[in-house]
Amino acid sequence: MTDQAANAMWGGRFAAGPDAIMEAINASIGFDRRLAAQDIAGSRAHAAMLAATGIVEASEAEAMRKGLLTVLSEIEDGTFQFSTALEDIHMNVEARLRELIGPAAGRLHTARSRNDQVATDFRLWVRDQCDAAAQGIAEVQRALLGQAEAGADWVMPGFTHLQTAQPVTWGHHMLAYVEMLGRDAGRFADARVRMNECPLGAAALAGTSFPIDRQMTAEALGFDRPCANSLDAVSDRDFALEFLAAASICAMHLSRLAEELVIWSSAQFRFVTMSDRWSTGSSIMPQKKNPDAAELIRAKIGRILGANIALLTVMKGLPLTYSKDMQEDKEQVFDAADTLMLALAAMAGMVADMTANRDALAAAAGAGFSTATDLADWLVRTLGLPFRDAHHVTGALVARAEARGVDLADLSLDEMQAVHAEIDEGVFDVLGVENSVGSRTSYGGTAPVRVREQIARWRAALPVET
Ligand code: ARG
Repeated sequence: MTDQAANAMWGGRFAAGPDAIMEAINASIGFDRRLAAQDIAGSRAHAAMLAATGIVEASEAEAMRKGLLTVLSEIEDGTFQFSTALEDIHMNVEARLRELIGPAAGRLHTARSRNDQVATDFRLWVRDQCDAAAQGIAEVQRALLGQAEAGADWVMPGFTHLQTAQPVTWGHHMLAYVEMLGRDAGRFADARVRMNECPLGAAALAGTSFPIDRQMTAEALGFDRPCANSLDAVSDRDFALEFLAAASICAMHLSRLAEELVIWSSAQFRFVTMSDRWSTGSSIMPQKKNPDAAELIRAKIGRILGANIALLTVMKGLPLTYSKDMQEDKEQVFDAADTLMLALAAMAGMVADMTANRDALAAAAGAGFSTATDLADWLVRTLGLPFRDAHHVTGALVARAEARGVDLADLSLDEMQAVHAEIDEGVFDVLGVENSVGSRTSYGGTAPVRVREQIARWRAALPVET
């Protein structure tokens, strides 16, 4: 097949020739311009180090510093002309620097490569996102704590299998999510510690023969130390993967809460009323108020987990060290980070603005024989029955109540004694829902007294609002 024929086969789709297509697949400037601030910070640290070690003249480094600041302000105020022909942010910045300060700009790339440069820029960016995620998580936690404080002792059904299990308190349920999000914040913090090593100075892959000071650049950029192996430094994207993994788990948590809010705001549950600010109407059904924000948060995990899988797939099987495959890391992480921050902000607002319906929660709390376990426990404690026997007796009582269509507390003492002769009036004390939750005072239990302790602990532990 001649070239001409090959072109005829696939060329019709493209107005431009193969060179332009190469440019289109190769260039990353369309997205990595988001690394501009990090790229310039890295270059400034590198320039200062080159002067301190005598690799370039102090006057040249000073010209670089000023020039880089000019480039940054041009990018910030939107006057910078990005060029696809220059491929990526690194070459765009360097080319503009050359226009601004002349040949000295050419010395900036001494003892450096785009491989260590991009690894450094991207780490700085992801590191910032770890901090942003921590802030966003704390916002959601504060909103949940507000809800928990308002209803620390409000009763509601606790579920297993989405079947009524035992009564719990609203505050306790809210705090369960505070715990989950606390672990999420911990994961971002852990990842941040691990990623805080500086790749700059690894150069292309092998290090450099110039007398660079990697400690100096690492410190200038807020890293704890330089990466110890130059091959690893340029080929590692664990930091991005750890961020995506933490983001995936966090998004999973958000999706669970979102799902509960969708269920709870339905007419069948009415546990919560979502604020109008976070709901939408239907164009055809006038009565509808849809929890769209919750539904969208529930769905956002798809993109974030997708990014996680995508980057793992890109990295899988890559030989050391840098390969262009790794340029595919950024869009995934950018999108996942944007999505997570948006989902966190929406969740914080939605939770802060929603109203829990105390009466609906209480009405549901007593339904479904939710205090059956309390009854079984009473049989163990008061009559000395083995728990298995107590379970059996309780089951028989539930069956009776169910057959009559009443709650356990509505059975008469005679009916109870027909199942087990030794049951006395005292049993009715434990069949109440308030009693049930009040009695669960074990550490981590649902009793209001325990819930209030946990609220206080979390209030003290959360970072201050910014
Ligand atoms: N734009 C590239 C990336 O994002 C920068 C590194 C290019 N390195 C190279 N050897 N071509 O990965």
